[in-house]
Amino acid sequence: MKIHFTLNGKWTETEAPTDTSLLKLLRDTLGLTGTKEGCSIGECGACSVLLDGRLVNSCLVLAAQVIDRSVVTIEGVCQPDGSPSDLQQAFITCGAVQCGFCTPGMVLAGEALLGANPTPSRAEIREAIAGNLCRCTGYQQIVDAIEETARIRQGRKPHA
Ligand code: FES
Ligand code: FES
Repeated sequence: MKIHFTLNGKWTETEAPTDTSLLKLLRDTLGLTGTKEGCSIGECGACSVLLDGRLVNSCLVLAAQVIDRSVVTIEGVCQPDGSPSDLQQAFITCGAVQCGFCTPGMVLAGEALLGANPTPSRAEIREAIAGNLCRCTGYQQIVDAIEETARIRQGRKPHA
């Protein structure tokens, strides 16, 4: 079937079988491998993307469900010149990236949160990333990175 939607700000048209997941469409058909495949059953968050600004597990969304909607993947969050976004930079600065497998989903979880709540508490940050598993960091640095980005976006001084 024909699938047409806005992907990372660009109108995109492609074709896929009706039972194709959004995850498979992104990775296999469109070659956007920044979105990771972990559990494939909605439990790890590695496949997280934004659908109309809300965080979803792309392994649980059919490609057909995104027709005429807007999808943002990790490839769509960097700066126009390709350099890291402020949130991605904060992940680097705060040591929130180790193996990196969870990182695309974590960054998108952070963007979804900051889009809805620009001044989250640490508890709210923890809740927002509760569906995203990380085996490496212990989560502390990820919470730090999202909190730091919120602070910077509010025009407040970053932590020394
Ligand atoms: S791969 Fe989608 S939630 Fe794990
Ligand atoms: S950095 Fe390895 S799973 Fe999170």
